[in-house]
Amino acid sequence: MDFNLAVIKGDGIGPEIVDEAIKVLDAAAAVYGHKFNYTRVLMGGESIDACGVPLTDEAIETCRRSDAVLMGSIGGNTATSPWYKLEPSLRPEAGLLKLRKSLGLFANLRPAYLYDDLAQACPLKKEIADKGIDLIIVRELTGGLYFGARSTVEQNGVLKATDTLTYNENEIRRIAVKGFDIAMKRRRKLTCVDKANVLDSSRLWRKVVQEVAKDYPEVEYSFMLVDNCAMQLVRDPSQFDVVLTENMFGDILSDEASEITGSLGMLSSASLCETSFGLYEPSHGSAPDIAGTGKANPIATILSAAMLLRYSLNLGKEADAVENAVREVLREGYRTADIMSDGCTQLTCSQMGDAVAKAIR
Ligand code: IPM
Ligand code: MG
Repeated sequence: MDFNLAVIKGDGIGPEIVDEAIKVLDAAAAVYGHKFNYTRVLMGGESIDACGVPLTDEAIETCRRSDAVLMGSIGGNTATSPWYKLEPSLRPEAGLLKLRKSLGLFANLRPAYLYDDLAQACPLKKEIADKGIDLIIVRELTGGLYFGARSTVEQNGVLKATDTLTYNENEIRRIAVKGFDIAMKRRRKLTCVDKANVLDSSRLWRKVVQEVAKDYPEVEYSFMLVDNCAMQLVRDPSQFDVVLTENMFGDILSDEASEITGSLGMLSSASLCETSFGLYEPSHGSAPDIAGTGKANPIATILSAAMLLRYSLNLGKEADAVENAVREVLREGYRTADIMSDGCTQLTCSQMGDAVAKAIR
């Protein structure tokens, strides 16, 4: 079949990791008889440089008309890049937030999985790592602190900044339903993470999640405070299956969850709306310090492309083929710099893409 994909390469290592994901998608297309048509879309710093804004309306429309969006990463060094001298609404990250909001991508899925072959890269004690890590963070993506009213004002010579955390019950319900649906396809265990001992918004989350849970009697669910969750993730991550949480907590916990699996460079993500359309990007950032050095790990982006095949194009077999190819390459001892260990063979970003593409069956 023919599919139309919008492609955002972005900044830093974005272009190099996306090129490798495209290599792998094309290899899967060749084996399974599909054709992917790619349309480049600018976002983030590359769009600021070319168009003066981090995301144009035309870019949003190109994404909307596609079957799915494949993305690398956006943003630069916040201390040195001229992009961060611009007002906040014109900086690279504002483009990504606008795209998520405009396309209604309220459900962000971030799986964290410890590969047997990467157990050495896991920073946790061996007895903890041996229990395995296989969890998915279901992060609300278009509400909360990220999208509440904010301001900075001066009152009587004193600067005051405000950010607001707002959720309505409908926003909570739709992400809770996604979380429970996903739990039904996994180990049927869901942990809702919040700060209900302090925040009203968290107390509303608990109320709505309890209501939604009634429709999923097979799912064992519980609530956990976010500070405790941050601790439990390093104490015993094997206790988690689905972690359901609001936008900001999900941002923080997903970096932690990916780090305990050995490298941020391995973790994929999918941002979904009510339809099959979605945006797929690695969980990590644009790592401007290693851009162009060949040190970037393209696996998170390749695995995001696998999620794209599965969730947006309904190509489950092809998605399995990509994931199996990654597993095979790791088993053979090939590594990028971030996950390198004794006795393995170190590859550049582009060589890793070649290896995975070649392993597609
Ligand atoms: C992420 C990133 C973004 C976020 C930034 C770049 C705005 O950290 O996707 O986790 O906070 O959502
Ligand atoms: Mg983040």
